[in-house]
Amino acid sequence: MAGSLFRTKSIERLMADGEGTGEGTLKRTLGAMSLIALGIGAIIGAGLFVRTAAAIAERAGPSVTIAFLVAGLGCAFAGLCYAEFASMIPIAGSAYTYSYATMGELVAWIIGWDLVLEYAVGAATVAIAWAEYFNKVLEYVGLNVPWVWCHSPLEHLASDPTVHGYMNIPAVGILLVLSLLLIRGTQESAFVNSLIVVTKVAIVIAVITIGWGFINPANHTPFIPAATTYTTHEGITHQYGGIMGILGAAGVVFFAFIGFDAVSTAAQEAKNPKRDMPIGILGSLVICTILYVLFSYVLSGVATVDDFRTAGREASVTFAISKYMIGYEWLGKSVTIAILAGFSSVILVMLLGQSRVFYSMSRDGLVPKVFSDTHPRFKTPYKSNMLFFVFTALFAAFIPGDIVGEMTSIGTLFAFMLVCTGVWIMRVRRPDLARGFTVPMLPVVAVLGIAVCGAMIYGLGWTNWLRLGVWLAIGLVFYFSYGIRHSKLSAER
Ligand code: ALA
Repeated sequence: MAGSLFRTKSIERLMADGEGTGEGTLKRTLGAMSLIALGIGAIIGAGLFVRTAAAIAERAGPSVTIAFLVAGLGCAFAGLCYAEFASMIPIAGSAYTYSYATMGELVAWIIGWDLVLEYAVGAATVAIAWAEYFNKVLEYVGLNVPWVWCHSPLEHLASDPTVHGYMNIPAVGILLVLSLLLIRGTQESAFVNSLIVVTKVAIVIAVITIGWGFINPANHTPFIPAATTYTTHEGITHQYGGIMGILGAAGVVFFAFIGFDAVSTAAQEAKNPKRDMPIGILGSLVICTILYVLFSYVLSGVATVDDFRTAGREASVTFAISKYMIGYEWLGKSVTIAILAGFSSVILVMLLGQSRVFYSMSRDGLVPKVFSDTHPRFKTPYKSNMLFFVFTALFAAFIPGDIVGEMTSIGTLFAFMLVCTGVWIMRVRRPDLARGFTVPMLPVVAVLGIAVCGAMIYGLGWTNWLRLGVWLAIGLVFYFSYGIRHSKLSAER
């Protein structure tokens, strides 16, 4: 039994499973540019337009800029490891698949389960952020969703702590629309995604260039606030300022980088995975890091920390533009609309990644077959899409954005650490395998990836460690009561 927990799936076997034909297989339609677009589509979203302001308010003030560099660095190391894996094992399933080949079934299960935090809970986080900006758009036409119908029961009105939310209806609505779009098929979704990516990048560049002239140097002084604490609206106390503030902020804004690895989950749909996967992953990561550092420098320079703690807590970018960048109301409006579209593309890619991971796990017998049943005409795992709609909708409806956002970050950071470990193990155990891309200076890069991601996990604080622990414990119960017995590898022995 102990041996079976560490049974691994051979690479040859993985590839053979991935190349299956007929029912239950995915179409190969994506080229390098589509993959970069898929990456940027998943990367720029709520992390930048919502979590940045939260990190400024609750963790680091203007030193959020440094936090972006730390998070970008951690992602670069992990991204290199992802790229090697994706170029070696170009089939659906991302970190889950890689770990099955390297560290055995139990670790693979832990990662697959953990990736639910990244993709499904991440999609819920972005849907909550979408609801904030959706309300702004409604305001432009004189409408609004009542506060209680777009907030979680765990949140209260800043002006009246006795008024709590009921549920977040707009967040559930956008998840439903996008789940239906995904069921229609990846190719169509990738096309819509490319259009949105262009708009999103244009808006980020516009905010940086125009906002630069409105930076108030007083807001950047001191650049690293003195170490103290801050208690959020949900009553959770964090370290604010100093080194711990920066590390905590890095953990928070790390959310903004999540997504480049989603490219690897589409490996089974890439036309030329060996060449295109590394280009897709690293290309999208580099472009986004540059934009983020500049954007966060501008945002923290235009508005004050206090703004982001009070009136500018929601739809923060639009708030900062309309309060301080007088004469640029048009920019505020376009930003809001572009953000709505941008968030949609992020949710789409995350839902796609989630269904793909469970598709692979289901084909391995670790989760029920319903997750790999594909639609006879659309060839998409439609039942899985529907089940994950329900799951993500529950999170989006009832849990605040801060909490789901940080759960997403910590879950993903943990997965990244395992990927860095896995690529190193694989080099030692299977140096013979052909790799389209190899990580330079291994194991240094893998160790640095583990260290930087570990530091961000540390910075996120004990409430998040506890949430991750509980989530993983629930996963182990599922594995020992279902996965271990239904695993196809175990059936063969
Ligand atoms: N990186 C994605 C975002 O920021 C998840 O929305």
